[in-house]
Amino acid sequence: MDALKEELKFRGEQALDQVDQRGGLVEFHKWFLLRNVPRGLSWLHTLGFCLLIVFANQAITGSILAMHYEPGADTAYESIQRIMFDHDFGWLVRGMHKWGASLMVVLMFLHMAASFMMGAYKYPRELTWITGVLILVTTLAMGLTGYLLVWDQRAFWASVVAINLNGTAPFLGPYIAEFLRGGATYTSDIIPRFYGLHMLLIPGALMGLIGLHMYLVTRLGVTPAPWKTDDPANDPEAWS
Ligand code: HEM
Repeated sequence: MDALKEELKFRGEQALDQVDQRGGLVEFHKWFLLRNVPRGLSWLHTLGFCLLIVFANQAITGSILAMHYEPGADTAYESIQRIMFDHDFGWLVRGMHKWGASLMVVLMFLHMAASFMMGAYKYPRELTWITGVLILVTTLAMGLTGYLLVWDQRAFWASVVAINLNGTAPFLGPYIAEFLRGGATYTSDIIPRFYGLHMLLIPGALMGLIGLHMYLVTRLGVTPAPWKTDDPANDPEAWS
């Protein structure tokens, strides 16, 4: 039995070595995870990771919902009723997606406020902040496009209000409103359009932006709290 265990361990390591030689997994893992962090980090520094978890929750529950949701004027509302009442744990998956969306927005504002308080928007992390702002706008667009998909009165009129508000923006406003409506007036064509945006285009953009954000966080490291910058242990020179 022990010999079999040894053999399996050896074979497993050999397979990992082969992948590592080609993909550089160990090097990437060391670069991404094994980093110095400043002394005196607080719970406020965990908000970004919480957001990653909530984002993963949205992606997983959203994919499950997409297997049962039917985007169409006559089918959308009924398919959601079926998800809620006919499918096992459908209510749970939908609830996790719906409440996860609100939680993500709340956490994002908290993370933004914490980063602002730490002065993390200053040199050299301006780009991290800018990618964060783009993530914020993209996430709000996820919220807007997702809200309509329920296709009840509240969803429809909330979307009408949001699109009309967009339409009042100078220069680009009317074009954005027409694009979102899919024409000059509101028709049921809006459902597949919002579904495509909500399922493919915006999450794709969001994933790319989060990847970039994480790359910058890894490259630049985390900002020490303002009341900890005088700590000699937080001098980057002392780390090398
Ligand atoms: C899905 C949304 C987001 C995810 C998953 C995310 C993830 C993260 C993670 C894991 C960190 C490192 C740990 C930490 O300091 O919390 C971080 C840092 C940072 N994030 Fe985000 N973030 C998101 C949205 C935002 C937004 C909306 C902003 C601001 C507009 C922002 C600005 C920053 C900045 C400036 C840092 C550097 C913090 C430091 O150096 O201490 N992030 N983010």
